Amino acid sequence: MRSLRIPGLIDLISVSDPALVRSLADNPDLDRRNEGGPLLVRMIRRRLAQTLKTPEGALPSNLPRGSGERSTMRKDLVERLKDPDLDAALNGAVEQCATFVEKGEGDPGLLAQTLFGRIFVADFAADIQTWEAAKTINQSLGTPSFRSLFSRLTGKLDQAQRVLSRAMAGDRSGVHAISVAVHNFAETLETMRTLDRSTPAEQVVAVALVVPDRVVRQGASIAETLAGRVRPGTLVILNVAEAQLRSPDPSIGFLRDAWSGCPAHAFVPHMITRIWIAAGGKS
Ligand code: HEM
Repeated sequence: MRSLRIPGLIDLISVSDPALVRSLADNPDLDRRNEGGPLLVRMIRRRLAQTLKTPEGALPSNLPRGSGERSTMRKDLVERLKDPDLDAALNGAVEQCATFVEKGEGDPGLLAQTLFGRIFVADFAADIQTWEAAKTINQSLGTPSFRSLFSRLTGKLDQAQRVLSRAMAGDRSGVHAISVAVHNFAETLETMRTLDRSTPAEQVVAVALVVPDRVVRQGASIAETLAGRVRPGTLVILNVAEAQLRSPDPSIGFLRDAWSGCPAHAFVPHMITRIWIAAGGKS
């Protein structure tokens, strides 16, 4: 655990231990907040809020625990992922991903985007425009750079959000999937391509799954946590990828048991397994 506090400028706690990540992710006093905190915390939060949105509003992944909108979007997505017809609807996209894993044909980013996009829009096909839009959003979530500042100032980021929202018919969970989660899955496909076909599917899931580097929370009120006292406004960084590396339990990479846990926590391993078997890998 690391912490840094310079009054008025920064106040943050960063955790990577799996037990700490799990406990802080579910602490009701830590939330996705939109107010308060010292200067750098406000800047980080503003950047997230400007990035994780569409013209319709904030993405579910940047809405607070108590948000009714988040809870409705979450329920809709859980229903979509439970639909017994979903597997068949994704046959074509799964085959294309498998061809990439087997023969290296196609672009993993576009293939991953098509796969996730079809959960929401049956005939969605990723193209250069939708993939470039996803890259613009991803850059804006990464380390601040001249390029991400340029996107913000010139309206390129807003344009990317419009493109992806149109592509997903306004579904904000869909936009989250094809702009944020998609980059993890593109990397997963690349890793699967390098694995020996005799690797059992369960092991492929463990080795190839790529999870977010980190997710952030903010103290909503004074909280005594396993990582010490958190003040209102303290930024709490949960290093999910590092926690996953240190834990044999695959659920931590999805923060599965937290209020914000990924609704696709079972869907993603299922897709990896389907693609692996379709690519001639061991079941
Ligand atoms: C590629 C693999 C994926 C990984 C590793 C992953 C991981 C995660 C994690 C760690 C969170 C928690 C974020 C937080 O606490 O702030 C999350 C949230 C979320 N994920 Fe995923 N995800 C993946 C794919 C997907 C896909 C395919 C979808 C949609 C079909 C999806 C939809 C969401 C949504 C909507 C949330 C926000 C949930 C909420 O706050 O209620 N994810 N995901």
